[in-house]
Amino acid sequence: MDNKRENWGSKLGLILAMAGNAIGLGNFWRFPYQAAKNGGGAFMIPYIIALLLLGIPITLVEWMQGRLGGRYGHGTVGYMIYLQSRERLKPKKAIILGSICGMIIIGVTLLVNSYYNHIIGWTLGYSFLSATGGYADKSVSTAQFFVNYIQNPKYVFLFWIISLSCLAFAVTRGIQKGIEAWAKLMMPVLYIFSFVLIIKTLTLGTPVKPDWSALKGLSYIWTPRWGDLNFKTALAASGQIFFTLSIGMGIIQNYASYLKKDDDIVNSALCTISLNEFAEVILGGTIAIPITYAFMGPEGLSQSIGLSFISLPNIFRTMAGGKVLGTLWFLILFFAGFTSAIAMYNYLVSIFQEEFGFSRSKSSLLVFTAYIVVGLPVCLEPILTKTATLSYFTELDNWVGTYLLVVMGLIEVIATGWLMKGNPIDEINRGAYFKAPKWLYTVMIRFVTPITIIIILLGSTIDYIKEGYFKLIPNFVKDTPNLVPWVNGARLVLIFIFILGFIGTYRSIKNKYSKEIEENKVLIIK
Ligand code: ALA
Repeated sequence: MDNKRENWGSKLGLILAMAGNAIGLGNFWRFPYQAAKNGGGAFMIPYIIALLLLGIPITLVEWMQGRLGGRYGHGTVGYMIYLQSRERLKPKKAIILGSICGMIIIGVTLLVNSYYNHIIGWTLGYSFLSATGGYADKSVSTAQFFVNYIQNPKYVFLFWIISLSCLAFAVTRGIQKGIEAWAKLMMPVLYIFSFVLIIKTLTLGTPVKPDWSALKGLSYIWTPRWGDLNFKTALAASGQIFFTLSIGMGIIQNYASYLKKDDDIVNSALCTISLNEFAEVILGGTIAIPITYAFMGPEGLSQSIGLSFISLPNIFRTMAGGKVLGTLWFLILFFAGFTSAIAMYNYLVSIFQEEFGFSRSKSSLLVFTAYIVVGLPVCLEPILTKTATLSYFTELDNWVGTYLLVVMGLIEVIATGWLMKGNPIDEINRGAYFKAPKWLYTVMIRFVTPITIIIILLGSTIDYIKEGYFKLIPNFVKDTPNLVPWVNGARLVLIFIFILGFIGTYRSIKNKYSKEIEENKVLIIK
């Protein structure tokens, strides 16, 4: 077993890296259009409830699972769930649960990045195009420009490969010299660029029509539209909490596995949650929507996902200083995405290091290759089908970027609340300056959080059935038969990765804990 695990170099480095892990495209790109689309200020009610009932308890559970796993030399979730559940469940059953979790997380960290890395590549490409006036020609709409972009192999491949190479370089350098060092640079820069954009946004006045201003944009997001507050809004808000805090992805546990046994996790976790929420609600909420409102009025907001890549470039190419501001905006997205992708990359590197004993650089190269293979369909689909639907991307995102995160969250709280022996709250509070209250375990982790997740999961399942996601041909491609093979291709990739993930996790747990699995009783305790 690997006893020479790396550790974080400093508390600040840990917190910035964890904040970078959470602060991602979800904060600046996904949050504003989710809030605008789902009831404005009314969205914030289920959002805050989900933060309290799900976000904070699950994040603390994940930090605890990670630190515990690290003590045994593991940075991956399959082992962590095995270790947590083996006493109550017995090793022979715990290995099955651990392998299912290992399988899901390999699916998430590998396949979310089949498209997430592409979006990071697009943001880098758009930073370059903003600085060089690449989309300045007004005879081409920015919507058409975006379609041309994703259908242009030169741009797509170039910026994708540059982004992936930077990720590989950072991860290869290790925890302190790579991940921590990049987070210490990128996170402060991200905050500074955001403040510059916010100041510019709030001092725009009414550049196009007296009725359109950034402040009206702010009130558009924050004024509650109570009529839109329903179960669907609650599902959207919970999904946003999972995505933005990186819950259910295995990457919090992986970073926490590099903690020392008595490092404080309660304060560090609350600190990173606060940094994430500030970046999401205050920074993310004060840039894209208000600026769009000031230039395009309420109609500009109908773009939802296209807000960042279509509406904003349309504004940047007309406003004074647009080149600089556009570059800053896309660099913010790039830094945010990069510091989250690095965590997913490192998770997969840990598997190769810990399971096969490969060096960090060899593991990093293997992950690079795997990302190219699973990411190729995302860039080939628009080029070969001459469409912009991105159905391979959408299908994978439905499962590994949304649904399975909630499933993982449920397994994690059940493992902690019901399967772990002893009192998990003591494990959470080990080394903590401010202790979490006992009811976090007795009330929240055991009852409130799992029950809330089950309700969300049922709601999501009904939604998925309605959208046809369980059918051979889901609704979103039923009128475009040429895209059906891409959707089914995504499903085959997912199934293949799952089979590989399950067998791989099972074999490696079995190898390392062979004796206790054979005897079906716990023998190794650290
Ligand atoms: N938490 C990351 C994001 O918000 C994955 O993008």
